[in-house]
Amino acid sequence: MNNNSNTEPEQVKPRRALEQLKPYTAGKPIWEVQREYGVERVVKLASNENSLGPSPKAVKAMQEALTELHRYPDERSSGLISELVRQYDLSDNQFIVTNGGDELIMLISQAYLEEGDEIIVPEPTFSEYAFGAHLMSGAVVKVPFDEKYSYNADSLLAAVTGKTKLLYLCSPNNPTGTYLPEPELRRLLDRLPARVLVVIDTAYRHYATASDYSDGVELIREGYPLLALNTFSKIYGLAGIRVGFGIAPESLITTLLKVKEPFNVNALAQAGAKAALTDYEHIEASRAMNEAGREQLYSGLRELNISYTESMANYVLVELGADTDRIYNQLLERGIIIRAAKGWGLHQHVRISVGTEEENQILLEALAELI
Ligand SMILES: Cc1ncc(COP(=O)(O)O)c(C=O)c1O
Repeated sequence: MNNNSNTEPEQVKPRRALEQLKPYTAGKPIWEVQREYGVERVVKLASNENSLGPSPKAVKAMQEALTELHRYPDERSSGLISELVRQYDLSDNQFIVTNGGDELIMLISQAYLEEGDEIIVPEPTFSEYAFGAHLMSGAVVKVPFDEKYSYNADSLLAAVTGKTKLLYLCSPNNPTGTYLPEPELRRLLDRLPARVLVVIDTAYRHYATASDYSDGVELIREGYPLLALNTFSKIYGLAGIRVGFGIAPESLITTLLKVKEPFNVNALAQAGAKAALTDYEHIEASRAMNEAGREQLYSGLRELNISYTESMANYVLVELGADTDRIYNQLLERGIIIRAAKGWGLHQHVRISVGTEEENQILLEALAELI
């Protein structure tokens, strides 16, 4: 250390790109609410997890994989990919398995964004797309939704410039629950310049019940240069083990594999995710619980005269008005965690994940007392 001068010692400087970054704010964890508010039972409806729990087949597969933990995992997650190949009827070169969907967003950013490149995102949407762009010194162009948070392909097209590299479509969109209908997706893809890569984030695809919903896979089969992002954190109930995957034409996957770390997905996660893919009972039960739960929330909210946006996902964007902060905090005091939407610039809204029937009921009763 230099003690000879009164000036501050020079410090190691992080990259300038980091000036724009803030750490991700996750939903409050259960233990923190228990400790802070002295409550035992916590109802967590803040992170769009599966309240039914993890796929039992996945849990069993992970238990069986424990004895092989002295080995490095399969670098390419081949076992998991072979099941994906079977289910999607695509070739193994069209998949990449990642440490959650989040890692895939980082790999896309690292592989495609030069300094000053632009990404287009709908607004409001999942924050990690912007995070990846900022980290690579790229710029984020936000395109507001139309009324009722519906997608407008023309507004997205109008935002394209000579610097546009990526266009993210989150469908169903987090936090609005709205989606991009297939005809609009096709229209968009047909009009975009080929130098723009479209990423369709379908983390919540299992919950979409609209007949014109598209998870992008059919279009990839038809040869569109589209990348579909998926996760095991939602319907499969495996958020804790961090697995996601991408589906795309082979040339895109080859590029992404260049920036992937060798052992990005651990052995337990690979085993669990593979088993979850064929746990049809758990998938169906989760889907049914979500559909019933959405209806339960809608009807409860209507009774309370609270407005909401109809959702194709496992969460509902709810408008609580000027009292949003108070209600959010008082719910926390009762051990009920939901997500404040102010991070998306929606100061009068919250996002409520669909829980079990009992959890939804607890939430609705608390809301009735607090509004
Ligand atoms: C829209 C969307 N995409 C991707 C992810 C990332 O999921 P994970 O990294 O848990 O696979 C999430 C997580 O909440 C999400 O909401």
